[in-house]
Amino acid sequence: MARPSEAITQQIESLRTTIELHNYRYYVLNEPTIPDAEYDRLFRKLQQLEQQYPELVTLDSPTQRVGATPLTEFFQFKHRTPMLSLNNAFEATEVEAFDRRLCEEIATHAIEYSVEPKFDGLAVSLVYEQGLLTVGATRGDGHTGENITHNLRTIQSIPLRLPLENPPVYLEVRGEVMILKADFIQLNQHQEKKGEKLFANSRNAAAGSLRQLDPSITAQRRLTFFAYGIGVLEPPSGTLKRHSDVMTYLVSLHFPIAKEHQIVQGPVGLLTYYQWMMEQRERLLYDIDGVVYKVNNLSDQIRLGFVSRAPRFAIAHKFPAQEAVTQLLGIDVQVGRTGTLTPVARLAPIFVGGVTVTNATLHNEDEIKRKQIMIGDFVIVRRAGDVIPEVVAIVPEQRSVNVTAFTMPDYCPVCGSHAVRLTGETITRCTGGLFCPAQRKQAILHFASRRAMNIEGLGEKLVDQLVDHAIIRTPADLYKLGIAALSQLARMAEKSASNVLYAIEHSKHTTLARFIYALGIRHVGETTAKDLARYIGQMDRLMMMNVEQLQQVHDIGPIVAESIVDFFAEPHNREVIEQLRVTGVHWDESQEVLEYMLNPEVQGKAFVLTGTLPNLTREAAKTLIEQSGGKVTNSISTKTHYVVAGADPGSKYHKAVELGIPVLDETALFDLLETQIIKPVS
Ligand code: IVH
Repeated sequence: MARPSEAITQQIESLRTTIELHNYRYYVLNEPTIPDAEYDRLFRKLQQLEQQYPELVTLDSPTQRVGATPLTEFFQFKHRTPMLSLNNAFEATEVEAFDRRLCEEIATHAIEYSVEPKFDGLAVSLVYEQGLLTVGATRGDGHTGENITHNLRTIQSIPLRLPLENPPVYLEVRGEVMILKADFIQLNQHQEKKGEKLFANSRNAAAGSLRQLDPSITAQRRLTFFAYGIGVLEPPSGTLKRHSDVMTYLVSLHFPIAKEHQIVQGPVGLLTYYQWMMEQRERLLYDIDGVVYKVNNLSDQIRLGFVSRAPRFAIAHKFPAQEAVTQLLGIDVQVGRTGTLTPVARLAPIFVGGVTVTNATLHNEDEIKRKQIMIGDFVIVRRAGDVIPEVVAIVPEQRSVNVTAFTMPDYCPVCGSHAVRLTGETITRCTGGLFCPAQRKQAILHFASRRAMNIEGLGEKLVDQLVDHAIIRTPADLYKLGIAALSQLARMAEKSASNVLYAIEHSKHTTLARFIYALGIRHVGETTAKDLARYIGQMDRLMMMNVEQLQQVHDIGPIVAESIVDFFAEPHNREVIEQLRVTGVHWDESQEVLEYMLNPEVQGKAFVLTGTLPNLTREAAKTLIEQSGGKVTNSISTKTHYVVAGADPGSKYHKAVELGIPVLDETALFDLLETQIIKPVS
C-alpha cells in the first residue's frame, strides 16, 4: 500500500476542516453556504481518501460519527464536577423572593442575570481533551452518569473537535439533547408506519434515542444539542468573568446555544423575560418547560455557592405544566360542520397548562385503537398553547378491571342518520348532509352558493340568523320562506328581503348538474356533478344506482361511488330532495336527452312487472324501463319479452316460466338497463 504523502495528509486535513465548517453552518447556524450536492461531493472525496489511506483515519473525522459496532452494554462515567439540578419557582412571588435573598447575600441593590430557556430534553456532559471529544455522558444521579459517547458523536451539531489552534487541556461542556418539534412529528409518523411504539413527547423520544446501544439507530433520530454552560475548564480562563461571557465562548467554539439567551436586570427584568418567552414558546423549534435565571457575575456565583444539590445562584421558573394525568370518564361523539364524527374524551377536571381541562380530542377511531384507550383509563392529557387539548397516551399501570371499550356509533348522534366510514378513510361521517342540524348551515350555504343553486344575497350572516331562529332547517325550507319571516331579521329591510325571495324563486329552475352539486355529496364536486348529469341524465336513476353501476360513469371511482350511494341510501336526504321537488325546484330532463339514452337491448321490448322489488317502486321501475325505450304492459303473453319479478310474485311469474320468458330480478333489470349509462347524454 502506498505511503501517504504530506500532500495527501494535508488534503485530508483540509477536507475535514471544510466539512466540519459546513456542518456547523448547516446544523448550528442554519445557514448553509454550499448546495447539498457539493457537500456530498466533499464528503465522498474524504471517504475515498480515508479508504485509500486507512492509517490516516482519526476519530474526529466527520466520516467517523457513527461507529461501526454496537455496544453490548453501557459503561458508567464519573463526572469531575457534579451535574446539579435547579430549584424551581412557579410563581412571580417566588422569583421576587429569590432575587431579594440574593441581593441581601451579596449586599447589592440590583443583580444582573443571564437568562435563557429551560430546554425540555436530557442533560448531557461533553468532555474535550486537547480539543477532541473524548467522552459524552448522561447526568445520571448527578455524580455518575452513563457513557454514551458513541451516541452523542452522531449528533451533527456537536463538534468532534474544537475549532481552536490551542485548545484547552480539558473542557467539559454542559447542555441538553433534544429533538426538534418537527423532527419529533416525523419520527412518530415513521414509527407508526413501521408499526412501532409511538413516543408520548419529544423528551421521551430523545431519551429513547440516547439509550440505544447501536449508534446507527441514534444517528437516524435527528437529535439536536444546545449548550448552556461549562463544567470544568483547564487551564482556567482569565477572561470569562460573567456567565454571558461563557455563552459567547461556547458560541466561538461552534456550540449551538439558545438564540433567546439575554441579559436582564433585577426581578422586573426576570418576569418580563418570563412573559416574553411564554409568548415565544409556540414559535420555538423545540420544547421548553420554563426559563432559567442565573446570576451573571461568576465570582458572585462562587460566593453564593450551593445548597445540597442545587446552586443558589440560579433558579428555574417553570411554565404551567402542559401535560397531566387524569381519568377518562367517557367518550362523547361530536359532529362537525362537514359531518365529521369526532370522539371527544370526557375527563375528570384537571389543571393543565394554566387552565382546567374537562374535554380533549381523541381525533378518530383509529387513534383510540392505536393508543389502546379504554373508558375508565387514566390518561396523559396535553395542552399546547391555544390548540385543543389532546389525549396523548394511557398510563397502563393504572388500568383497572372496570374499563370498557369504545365503539364508533353507527348513527349520527345529532340527527340519527347513518354514520359511515368510507374505504381508505380514517374518519367516520354522518350521511345526513341535507338534514343534519350539525351540518345545517354548511349544507344550506353550499346549496345556495353561486355554482350550485346560485341564490344571490343568501350569505353566511343571513343563513346564521335563519338557522339560529329556527326559521329554516333544510335547503327545502328556503322555498317556503315568506316576506314576513325574512324582514323581521336584523339588517333585513323589506327591499333586500324581497330581493332574496326573488333570487330564491328564480333558483327553482336549474340544471340537473347544478342540483346534484348543490346536494353537497362528499367527493361530488362541480365536475363530477356535471359528469353524473351528463351520463345518467335522470335524478331518479342516479338515486337508485349501485356502486358498480356508478363506476361505469366517466371518472367515477369506488370512493366517489360509495359516497353517492351512502348519501342516497339515507332516507332523510331523500325526504329533503322530495320536498325540494314539491316546492317547485325543477330542471330539464328533456326528451331530446332521453333519445340518446334509448337502449337497443330494451327499445321496443315489452316488460311485465310482478311482486315487490327491493328498491324500486312499481312506478319507478316503469319509468326506468320507459326511459330506455321499453314498454310496460299489464298482462303476460307470448309477446312479452321480459318479466321483472320481486318478492311474492303472482301468477304472472308462473306463466312466464311456462312460456319460457326470461325472468329478471331487480339486479338483472339494472344490468339490462345499465348499458346506456356508459354512453354520455349530450
Ligand atoms: S443550568 C448548575 N440551564 O434543567 C445549573 N439547566 O433542573 C445547571 N436545563 O439537569 C443547569 N435548560 O438539564 C441549565 N438553560 C438551562 C437549562 C438547564 C434545561 C436542565 C438541566 C438540568 C435541569 C435542572
